[in-house]
Amino acid sequence: MSAEIIDGRAVARKVRESASARVSALVAAGHAAPGLATVLVGQDPASDTYVRMKRRSCEELGIRSIHHALPADTSEEELLALVAALDADPSVDGILVQLPLPRQIDEKAVLGAIGIRKDVDGFHPHNLGLLAMKGREPLFRPCTPAGVMVLLRESGVTLSGAEAVVIGRSNIVGMPMAMLLIEADATVTVCHSRTRDLAAHLRRADIVVSAIGRPATVTGAMLKPGATVIDVGTNRVDAPGTQSGSRLVGDVDFDSAVAVAGRITPVPGGVGPMTIAMLMDNTVRSAEMRAGVVAIPAL
Ligand code: GUN
Repeated sequence: MSAEIIDGRAVARKVRESASARVSALVAAGHAAPGLATVLVGQDPASDTYVRMKRRSCEELGIRSIHHALPADTSEEELLALVAALDADPSVDGILVQLPLPRQIDEKAVLGAIGIRKDVDGFHPHNLGLLAMKGREPLFRPCTPAGVMVLLRESGVTLSGAEAVVIGRSNIVGMPMAMLLIEADATVTVCHSRTRDLAAHLRRADIVVSAIGRPATVTGAMLKPGATVIDVGTNRVDAPGTQSGSRLVGDVDFDSAVAVAGRITPVPGGVGPMTIAMLMDNTVRSAEMRAGVVAIPAL
């Protein structure tokens, strides 16, 4: 038996189409088009590519893209001053400072300086705190874990009461992922680099979300037959004989897992496209909150 392949590109397209329609509705109602400010410090090639993809997606959806490229030796004070200016600018609905930042800049200070009403990455401690609390609602959910939830729901996966294992405990993916799954009434175990027996946890899991950044962390032999496997990993590995000399793989050994799982996301083409789609969704949501089209959750 071979697992159903979850097509992240197709689901992401649906999310973008919905965001695009909401942009049109805002503009038709006389509101300004949503605006997303992107800030890139330095010339990391991967970050440069990600930001370019985000800006292109804005253009496709009718979202205004306001880009700031800063030199690698930018000081923390200079970056904080830019963030404060963007936060005060009424034409900006979302602020995205691309991570990682150069070492002279304290990431915590920068992420904490983005006003939570423009925190479309969902990385502000206040938004993450609201996400962690029962009966409370964040203004924005972090894009990658929120995208995983859309993939699970679109694939018809039963979440309530399901045994879910999240591998990885980062602020960006693992921790908020666990909170979103708990919010959806799953029973959640978080595994990480110090977990003693990962296979023992995976054996019971109906849903596996791996975001640890290590190839072949999950193999078919570890999985419960029929499990849903979501691979957030994006690891570049050597591929001798290919044109670039490398290729992208996830955390899951796809060839063995596809034979045991019920559903599985490929890398690339699984979770990756969802992250930018959810960023667009959050940016439009921010503009909708500003316009009074959707309610702002109590803070
Ligand atoms: N670097 C890698 N992923 C992300 C992301 O989702 N947002 C930001 N701001 N930086 C990143």
